[in-house]
Amino acid sequence: MDLLKHLAIPQSVEHFHVLIVIGGMISIVLYPYLGFLLGSSVLSYFYNRKGTRERNRQLTKFANDLIDIVLFNKSVPTYLALVPSFSSIFIYAQLLQSTDAISVGLAGYGFILLLIAIVSLYAYKYTFRLRGVLHDYEGLLEGRKHGAVGVEEIRDYSEETIKSHFASGRVGIVFLVAASFLIVSSMAVTANPSNWNDLSTIFALFISPDVLIRVLQFAALAAGATGVGILYFFLAWQGGREGLDSVQRFFVRRLATRLIVGSLLSLPVFVVLSIVVLPASSLSGSLYGFAAVALVLIFLTAQSVYAYHRNSQPRYVNSAVYTLAVASVFLSLNDQVAVHNATNVQAAYLAYRYDVATEELKSRLGVAAPSVSGEDIYNGRCSACHLFDQKKIGPAYKDVLTKYGGKKDQLVAFVLNPIKKDPAFPPMPNQGLKPAEADSIVSYLLRRLGSVDAKATAPGQTVPLK
Ligand code: HEC
Repeated sequence: MDLLKHLAIPQSVEHFHVLIVIGGMISIVLYPYLGFLLGSSVLSYFYNRKGTRERNRQLTKFANDLIDIVLFNKSVPTYLALVPSFSSIFIYAQLLQSTDAISVGLAGYGFILLLIAIVSLYAYKYTFRLRGVLHDYEGLLEGRKHGAVGVEEIRDYSEETIKSHFASGRVGIVFLVAASFLIVSSMAVTANPSNWNDLSTIFALFISPDVLIRVLQFAALAAGATGVGILYFFLAWQGGREGLDSVQRFFVRRLATRLIVGSLLSLPVFVVLSIVVLPASSLSGSLYGFAAVALVLIFLTAQSVYAYHRNSQPRYVNSAVYTLAVASVFLSLNDQVAVHNATNVQAAYLAYRYDVATEELKSRLGVAAPSVSGEDIYNGRCSACHLFDQKKIGPAYKDVLTKYGGKKDQLVAFVLNPIKKDPAFPPMPNQGLKPAEADSIVSYLLRRLGSVDAKATAPGQTVPLK
């Protein structure tokens, strides 16, 4: 993955800021969805196991519904998780080029694990259905008079399906946990410049306070997103899910409320802690501002959930969904501000490298001279009075410059401070150049005169630079 950092192209400060904004938009969709996916898969697996053991069909149905909702179709995880996670690899590669930060590698492996996780969870989701079909078919065969032709095979096949069904659920969850850890820590490492050098292996992540706090903050957000998601999709959206009796509604509501309460109580603690551990270079007024807004929204979410608890009106669920969504937007913005502040110095450094690279490219293509362009100064100031091969108000350069051969410093001194030379000409007015500008115009004159002599260039013709 370090290869990516070497392939990263130099960028201007503007590009740098665009990247930070894109990074913000990515985290706005990625973290809440990833949290919801994680929460739903774990709960689905848990209740599936429980339901299968207790032969409780309602629990397995709930487990099935959960995974169905969060992996509704292929576009949902693709656009809300895979594409954002993939793009973040390139963003970190651009932002952190020429540093030792391991964020790019973390984001890269995070993406690969996420891909495996989502494929496995899809397998888990589809075998749910297959399992149901096989079960029904088995029952059908058993009911037939002519004995059990094929019942054994179906039973074996059904058992195998159940085994691989649970196995893919397990694999999916393990990979999803690992992927979330890597993705969250790639951001945590980026947001704190002292981590760029200090954290050089995956193991170091486990003992870094700010990585751990962010992982816990993500876990709290995941619980909240899952709780609110469950309330919304089971009880509020389009009048709630069909076929739920009052016992099931009560079960869903109690589960969701527990998740939300746990999340809303712990989130503020982690938000505050995550700010406390940041170094001064990552902090700023807007960071505190966004954090404060997020905390207020978390409080409002808690209030909506409480209101729903007291009288079950779906509109309270809706407002809880919106406030929590906006809260998580502010939490993402908060992270991005931290990343932005952390990478300020880096941005300036990269912008400098960008200028150097642009100059190199230009001079390679013969578009302009390197550094503060001498040619621009000539065209802008000197050409009013000087040409190379004809006298104008001042003498032709080809007549006066030969005496400066090998004495560049003297020529620079004259340009900075012209003194009376030739009685045939009026004195040259001071052009008010800075030393660096005088240096570059003089280099340009000498260089160009060299090639004028060598090739007798016609006036106005562009001279290829060496
Ligand atoms: C307003 C007209 C004017 C402008 C603009 C002007 N010059 Fe001159 N320059 C003159 C004149 C007139 C002389 C002759 C002065 C003399 O011989 O005393 C001169 C002389 C020179 C000489 C010859 C000095 C010598 O030792 O004989 C150099 C070199 C020179 N200029 C460079 C420049 C450069 C470089 C610029 C642009 C940054 C520039 N000039 C802009 C009018 C101008």
